[in-house]
Amino acid sequence: MNHIKAIAFDLYGTLFDVHSVIDQCEQHFPGRGREISTLWRQKQLEYTWLRSLMNRYVTFEQATEDALRYACRYLKLDLNDETKAALCNAYLKLRPFPEVPDTLSRLGERGLQLAILSNGSPHSIASVVGHAGLRDRFDHLLSVDPVRIYKPHDRAYELAETAFGLSRASILFISSNAWDATGARYFGFPTAWINRSGNTFEEMGQRPDWELTGLDDVLKVLDTRN
Ligand code: LAC
Repeated sequence: MNHIKAIAFDLYGTLFDVHSVIDQCEQHFPGRGREISTLWRQKQLEYTWLRSLMNRYVTFEQATEDALRYACRYLKLDLNDETKAALCNAYLKLRPFPEVPDTLSRLGERGLQLAILSNGSPHSIASVVGHAGLRDRFDHLLSVDPVRIYKPHDRAYELAETAFGLSRASILFISSNAWDATGARYFGFPTAWINRSGNTFEEMGQRPDWELTGLDDVLKVLDTRN
């Protein structure tokens, strides 16, 4: 792996736990936190993909709010403006997975350039990363917002090549989202899929180069010579 010069990370679900909003959902809707969070995330992703297909881009925050409104309506929960604002705000303060801060430091010490490449807006990425105190770990925070189309479109992945000034073959892409790892592989990034909870990879004609159980395993991948 000595040809890898930079790493681009997905943000939501990969470095940060989207289900850390369950606690706030529970406060507002006791006993319903997990199902709200699960449907909210699923719809949020669908809305980004659908809007890309329709060429009707809205920011990730808007898609997130729309998805929350859908989830609450589906679950027959009354979402007032105050609760909506509180839950959307919780999405700006997600928790990183436990191994993430230390692993990022160790990757940086190896002289690798590090970036987030996310469907999040510049504001949402900066909020989540800043709230966790991790801004200084990254050379770039890359949002798809300038190209107004979401991953897994090639134009989104190209942002990492441009920012790093490197060809795709020397950029390791890391995501816990199987659909994202699939898109990254089609684009041509060497790709690691972080599978923390025994999920099933997509059947879309690609496999990740590495399947790992946590971000810290990336250090072992980088140690293997090929
Ligand atoms: C990201 C989400 C969608 O791009 O996982 O960070």
